[in-house]
Amino acid sequence: MEDSPAVFPPEFSVRFIFRPPAAEAAGLLALPWDRPLTEWPDDVVTTVPRRGISRHVVRFVADGATVYALKEIVEPLARKEYAVLTDFAAQGLPTVDVLGICVDRPGGQPAILITRYLDYSVSYRHLFSTPRGDFSVGQLVDTMVGLLVRLHLDGVFWGDCSLSNTLFRPDAGTMAAYLVDAETVERHAQLSDGQRLHDVDLAIERVGAELLDLEAGGLLPSGVDPVATAVGLRAKYDALWDELTRDQVLATRDPASGLVQRLQRLNDLGFGAGEIELVTSDDEAVVRVRTQVAEPGRHRRELFRLSGLEVQENQARRLLDDLRSYRAWLEQRHGAELPDSVAGHRWVAEVYQPAVDSIPADLLDRLAPAEAFHEILEHRWFLSEIEQSDVGTTEAARSYVETVLSRTPTESVPTVLL
Ligand SMILES: Nc1ncnc2c1ncn2[C@@H]1O[C@H](COP(=O)(O)OP(=O)(O)O)[C@@H](O)[C@H]1O
Ligand SMILES: [Mg+2]
Repeated sequence: MEDSPAVFPPEFSVRFIFRPPAAEAAGLLALPWDRPLTEWPDDVVTTVPRRGISRHVVRFVADGATVYALKEIVEPLARKEYAVLTDFAAQGLPTVDVLGICVDRPGGQPAILITRYLDYSVSYRHLFSTPRGDFSVGQLVDTMVGLLVRLHLDGVFWGDCSLSNTLFRPDAGTMAAYLVDAETVERHAQLSDGQRLHDVDLAIERVGAELLDLEAGGLLPSGVDPVATAVGLRAKYDALWDELTRDQVLATRDPASGLVQRLQRLNDLGFGAGEIELVTSDDEAVVRVRTQVAEPGRHRRELFRLSGLEVQENQARRLLDDLRSYRAWLEQRHGAELPDSVAGHRWVAEVYQPAVDSIPADLLDRLAPAEAFHEILEHRWFLSEIEQSDVGTTEAARSYVETVLSRTPTESVPTVLL
């Protein structure tokens, strides 16, 4: 960990530690780091309506359009969390992005961990406390279990897996999960079965308590049994772990097709194959796959190459479908194939951007643009079914803004300039 020199305001002295490039950290130097976070004035901190529950004092500040989460925590844990989150990001694990820590605060105050606010993320509590609660408890638990499995594949013991410590982000009708609290993480070369199952036990305990708490607050949908849902987490975990790690016996006649299917299945689950071992004997072939931890992001990369847009994996899958069908239509009209760059550019300019631009500015902070575009495509399908003919993206966008988005509760982070 490198300690970088910093410029301090004259009246007090603290120390910032961050990894370059962190020019943006300079914008945060003027904050009242010498005072307890709880005492920071209201014109400095900003409220985030979507946050979860925390043990520590966690507050948010905005610098221009960027929002940061600040967590007051003892220095050894702050340093550990900073190191772990930095490693996770380097490996492509889904986690909040850490900026640095502030230590040596006057009067023996704890350190402060600074992370970038995960844009468009929502906590499970928010998902259940707003009318737009169109995600089931089961879906959230599945998403969280997927994150836990991903960490376990990489030898990471979480030690505090819970719905509060997972941030959720809409991803084209599904959810993507991000780790937000890495204080208890332990890294090993590989986890034993005992370690994995202990981590799952801890998750069951925490999720059970969280669901009971939601129930007590009248926020749990009726018909959801908190304890059964939490305990059911184990079977979901076991099924996914098995699917990703089991050795598979392939038909000797046609081992290739079994292998292709297995790899396709891993891909559908959002994983990739790191290394494949195929052991053949006279009467059978066994395939052993070392599953890759980071999502392959095939669609994200392809969409970025074609259009320059950076979105999440499922959103990219959806947007690529639309790009392809627009391209096919263009090519038919031109009577010739178009180069990738032309097709991508024209789709952005003629389809994607006009739809996103049709969303009024005061509604834009409710959903990421790619997620709004995905919803417009859904709405187009829905309207076209009713009309029995394709209504087109422009009409779908207009109707979507008017009838759906304007009724979506605000999920924005009010921006308070420093
Ligand atoms: N970078 C971030 N982006 C979005 N929300 C965050 C971020 N950091 C913290 N939060 C919110 O604050 C809550 C508490 O943070 P966490 O690190 O879990 O603190 P604690 O160690 O006290 O549990 C989280 O559940 C989450 O809702
Ligand atoms: Mg936490």
